[in-house]
Amino acid sequence: MQNPDKKVFVKTYGCQMNVYDSERMRDVLTPLGYAETTSPEDADLVILNTCHIREKAAEKVYSELGKLRVMKRGRAADGKEMLIAVAGCVAQAEGEEIVRRAPAVDLVFGPQTYHRLPQLLARSKSGERRVVETEFPAEDKFEGLEARSVPSRGVAAFLTVQEGCDKFCTFCVVPYTRGAEFSRPVAQIMTEARKLAAQGVRELTLLGQNVNAFHGAGADGETISLAGLVAELSRVEGIERLRYMTSHPRDMSDDLIAAHAENAKLMPYLHLPVQSGSDAILKAMNRGHTAEDYLRLVARIRAARPDIALSGDFIVGFPGETDADFRATLDLVREVKYAGAYSFKYSPRPGTPAAEHDAQVSEAEKSARLTELQSLIHAQQTAFNAAQVGRRLPVLVEKPGRESGQMVGRSPYLQAVHIQADPGLIGQIVDTHITGVGTNSLSGHYAHAA
Ligand code: 5AD
Ligand code: SF4
Repeated sequence: MQNPDKKVFVKTYGCQMNVYDSERMRDVLTPLGYAETTSPEDADLVILNTCHIREKAAEKVYSELGKLRVMKRGRAADGKEMLIAVAGCVAQAEGEEIVRRAPAVDLVFGPQTYHRLPQLLARSKSGERRVVETEFPAEDKFEGLEARSVPSRGVAAFLTVQEGCDKFCTFCVVPYTRGAEFSRPVAQIMTEARKLAAQGVRELTLLGQNVNAFHGAGADGETISLAGLVAELSRVEGIERLRYMTSHPRDMSDDLIAAHAENAKLMPYLHLPVQSGSDAILKAMNRGHTAEDYLRLVARIRAARPDIALSGDFIVGFPGETDADFRATLDLVREVKYAGAYSFKYSPRPGTPAAEHDAQVSEAEKSARLTELQSLIHAQQTAFNAAQVGRRLPVLVEKPGRESGQMVGRSPYLQAVHIQADPGLIGQIVDTHITGVGTNSLSGHYAHAA
């Protein structure tokens, strides 16, 4: 390994899968002599790991590139280099278009090619003006990454186990940017999990665009479901907690629901997007389930694990959404009672079927619906958090908080919990008496190590 003599600045947009990919890019760059910096002005290499899910997310990248162009000029005036790379889903979707719109960009590579970063950088350094690589290579990215060390990731880490999606919801770019559904082989995941555990990781969140569709090859060629994978991972020494996201209602299998009843390491939190409460809209979205199917599923999950915290994603203003359709979404939310949820205005994405629809909903209508939905969700989240006050919860202590003597950890329900505790407790699960609730977090007193 080279001594770090260069600096890299990585900015991550979008979902947790991108957070994971950014970590792995850092892993690839460390042996090349890159240390991380938090200020782009100092960076020899800037990577924007981008998101294409909504127009706003994609546009942010271009405004950032405008700022970087100025910094790059400033560094060049001082005789210093700044390579600018666009990675992730905007890179995948727009490819060459990026260098046309933003000529300061040196490298463009998609989510499936970043394991080739050493070669891509070498090509750029040897004079290739613009390196654009957005294919879906035949070789397995994860195999290419496997040999690399996994530097410390703290106490809670993401682990991508599945990528891509075959569901083709009519609003969504993921099947185009991340490609077809793919599950990593179980042995490869176990190796990575053991490495993480050895570095002090106690909680793993298994990631995938359609994580509960996971069907990885097992050691004897058999196919392992997500429930099977969770069972194997829960036997890894040091791993105390497991989570997974994002799940599709259609792939919520019986064995996975049963795991929530049986496996104490599987945390009672489930991100299960429904997108809409209207059957007509669900059909137009190609979701493959009705509102009633979803409610029945929620009831089965709650029968297995009554205290489970449910979260979801919603889109308002999908083409053709009437006021009655939107009311059906509000009704569904009222019935489910979420612990929290994300909601978005529909954003037409080029190349997706819904973008071609002529019954687009007006921006004003979308904004009004979003405000109404968000205030309902916010009230539910507040109620869910307030209901924890007075309870004792096991909290995994993650890191120091902002105030002195304060630590921040997570409850089983993924809530941030602020406690007065010693930094020596980082990595431990402590029994915590919950005494207060803030907007997005709980506070409590540490009782004793659980
Ligand atoms: N417009 C708005 N929201 C979208 N999502 C996906 N595509 C779009 C789009 N075109 C939302 C969905 C998904 C979440 C990750 O982003 O709710 O579950
Ligand atoms: Fe997109 Fe639908 Fe696949 Fe989720 S299930 S990634 S929303 S196409």
